[in-house]
Amino acid sequence: MTEPSVGIIGGTNGMGRWLAELLTARGCRVCVTGRKTAATAADAARSCDVVVVAVPIAATSGVIAHVGPLLQSSQALMDLTSLKEEPVALMLSSSPAEVVGCHPLFGPQAADPARHSIVLCRGRGETWYAWMKAVFEQAGYTVLEKTPAEHDRVMAVVQALSHLNTIALGMAVAAAGFSAIQLEPFATPVFKTKMELVKKVFTESPELYADIIAGNPNRREVFAVYENVLRTLSELVGSGDGKKLKHAMEAAADKLFAPKP
Ligand SMILES: NC(=O)c1ccc[n+]([C@@H]2O[C@H](COP(=O)([O-])OP(=O)(O)OC[C@H]3O[C@@H](n4cnc5c(N)ncnc54)[C@H](OP(=O)(O)O)[C@@H]3O)[C@@H](O)[C@H]2O)c1
Repeated sequence: MTEPSVGIIGGTNGMGRWLAELLTARGCRVCVTGRKTAATAADAARSCDVVVVAVPIAATSGVIAHVGPLLQSSQALMDLTSLKEEPVALMLSSSPAEVVGCHPLFGPQAADPARHSIVLCRGRGETWYAWMKAVFEQAGYTVLEKTPAEHDRVMAVVQALSHLNTIALGMAVAAAGFSAIQLEPFATPVFKTKMELVKKVFTESPELYADIIAGNPNRREVFAVYENVLRTLSELVGSGDGKKLKHAMEAAADKLFAPKP
């Protein structure tokens, strides 16, 4: 069977480039666009069977609104955004095309597909959804089929809460008056690992992490849980005795690491 043509808007870098390489290796004709390429997003939308939006979160709505109406019902519109509710709803409302929501749960440098998963959300139509699912599974990835709301609810913990925790650590270290260089001679292996993560989040792509937190529809619940936990922790160690905190951690461990029922 002839492989379809795929246009990747934001395919010059990051996750768009990852997908371009995967599909090119499969034999698809891939048209990659960026802000400076000769081919434009509109060219890709008019000429490719499948059109993928892989631009930064802040630019995603504008790109979907621009290309969505240019597609026909025989084509597919897909995104790679780390959030799913808003982009999938926008793809559905702005385009007559089939719609697939996609979130690879790894970064562009990840190797070994067998260790990684990709979330797919049904938007509209089965043909291109089934093709994308087969592409990822044949490449060795695990595909998790979720609704956009289910995805964003889980990512509120896996990404928003987790990145919030990393950002809070970095901000708290800075607010305590220390730089990483000052602390380096004293750093334990655990502190080194955590500060490497802080450095990655703060310096490599801070807008990605900021938008993953700010754009999650469940962000208020995430902050409420986090603030409550911090308040509780402060009360538990208030008397200067670690016993209450130890008991609270043991109770949480029962929930966190209990064997599957
Ligand atoms: N990075 C990750 O770990 C990761 C993982 C899963 C999902 N995602 C999602 O993947 C999407 C892209 O993220 P990324 O990290 O791959 O971004 P990225 O590395 O910054 O790449 C963004 C791409 O979009 C283009 N671009 C940048 N700004 C643009 C704009 N204003 N309008 C149109 N095109 C623009 C860039 O091309 P030019 O610079 O050539 O114009 C580049 O090809 C986001 O929705 C993100 O949530 C990221």
